[in-house]
Amino acid sequence: MVEPRTAGHTARILVASNRGPVSYSRADDGTLTAKRGGGGLVSGLSAIGPDAGAVWVCSALSDDDRAAARAADGRLDPADTGDQRVRMLDIDAATFTDAYNGIANSVLWFIHHLLYQTPLEPAFGPDFRTQWASYVRYNTAFADALARDAEQGAAVLVQDYHLTLTPGLLRERRPDLRIGHFSHTPWAPPDYFRLLPDDVAADVLRGILGGDRAAFLTHRWARAFADCAADVLGAEVTDVAGTNGELAVTHEGRTTRVGVHGLGADPDFLRERAHRADVDAWLPRLREQIGEGRKAIVRVDRTELSKNIVRGLQAYDRLLTEHPEWRGRVVHVAFAYPSRYDLAVYRDYTAKVEQVAEEINSRWGTDDWQPVLLRVDDDFARSLAAYRLADVALVNPIRDGMNLVAKEVPVVSDAGCALVLSREAGAYAELGQDAFVVNPYDVEATAAALHEALNLPAAERADRSKRLAAAATALPPQRWFLDQLDALGG
Ligand code: F6P
Repeated sequence: MVEPRTAGHTARILVASNRGPVSYSRADDGTLTAKRGGGGLVSGLSAIGPDAGAVWVCSALSDDDRAAARAADGRLDPADTGDQRVRMLDIDAATFTDAYNGIANSVLWFIHHLLYQTPLEPAFGPDFRTQWASYVRYNTAFADALARDAEQGAAVLVQDYHLTLTPGLLRERRPDLRIGHFSHTPWAPPDYFRLLPDDVAADVLRGILGGDRAAFLTHRWARAFADCAADVLGAEVTDVAGTNGELAVTHEGRTTRVGVHGLGADPDFLRERAHRADVDAWLPRLREQIGEGRKAIVRVDRTELSKNIVRGLQAYDRLLTEHPEWRGRVVHVAFAYPSRYDLAVYRDYTAKVEQVAEEINSRWGTDDWQPVLLRVDDDFARSLAAYRLADVALVNPIRDGMNLVAKEVPVVSDAGCALVLSREAGAYAELGQDAFVVNPYDVEATAAALHEALNLPAAERADRSKRLAAAATALPPQRWFLDQLDALGG
């Protein structure tokens, strides 16, 4: 057992995630400057706030991060982090790359989002084994840091598929801790999860079950995890009476509770941020690019295979084919911010998105109408301006843990928007009633849903949008975080 450090270096609440709240880059004059990270996990965890007394343990993601972490002995300058206490682990570049690009993003991400299909086939040869050893080292580095920094009996909230082994490794080091794991992704059903080599599938499950609690964004993903534990490990799964669908998973004499904490949009942050000057400045520019009197179908995603951007474009193409009345009267605004470009499959996917958008523009475009406005770069203010203008939001992932864009657009929209939503997004459980729901593989049905959404009368659209915004904000990030802590007890 590892002894905690002396008071002053320890905390009673610790959060662990691969990506922290900021990343660093070096300016021309050599100084390192911090920029806020993106994504649902960071949005949720940023709600911790400086008063919670928590320490957020994360990994350095780049050479610049590693330099910043080394300069601060791991403890980042609170001026960079919104006053949060952040410990950034300086994990060597090769271990990090294998664990993050190799195992987490190329294997576990593909498993949970059901993305393997010819020609993207799983490959578990010698490279995989080297990467897996790095993934184990990477998880061990987190477990060691958490074991050192946690006060006696502290609560530790471990986040996501990058860190599935950490709960078990931490339990070995510090049996006194209360340990939770939270998955921000979907969880694969057993038949698909079993694509993993048997020992790896078992280690991932055992790692998470090493905690007191495993939590998910929806009941569907929680159930799939419990099904995998039963199927792969032979664990016993029972319903916990008197709870909101909690499960108890018992394996090797230990019981882990499996529960659900939905994550919603943060209305105060979003509404304030969406009315700042930089967003206001984008509005007239975007209106001009879309064109007077035209409707806007808006989507904002990472350049990510699971987001299904290509089929979204194909559905728009079908809309213009099947319903000529929309030609010249609608623009598809697609903002995709670059993600995981170290992986060829992500770069290829982005190239495909660009190619399909160009084909649509050359097929249908006229001198004064560009049907698709695709931008592949990161501009949060411009995305918020697009949210405000959207007539229709298109969110059609193949599979998604939650999808916060589906929740953010109705909150920010100026005149109310219609939502076309994949039934495979976690958000469907909360927003499905007021959305136009689609099977993400069905391009024809998505085109039909876009048509219906564009035709929705203004008053009904405003009503639906209000109801969507209310459902989207029912579980604000602060509550998501505190509920996880409460559920760990103590
Ligand atoms: O859980 C998935 C997730 O961590 C999201 O929170 C976020 O949108 C995305 O993945 C970020 O991925 P990355 O850290 O690889 O950019």
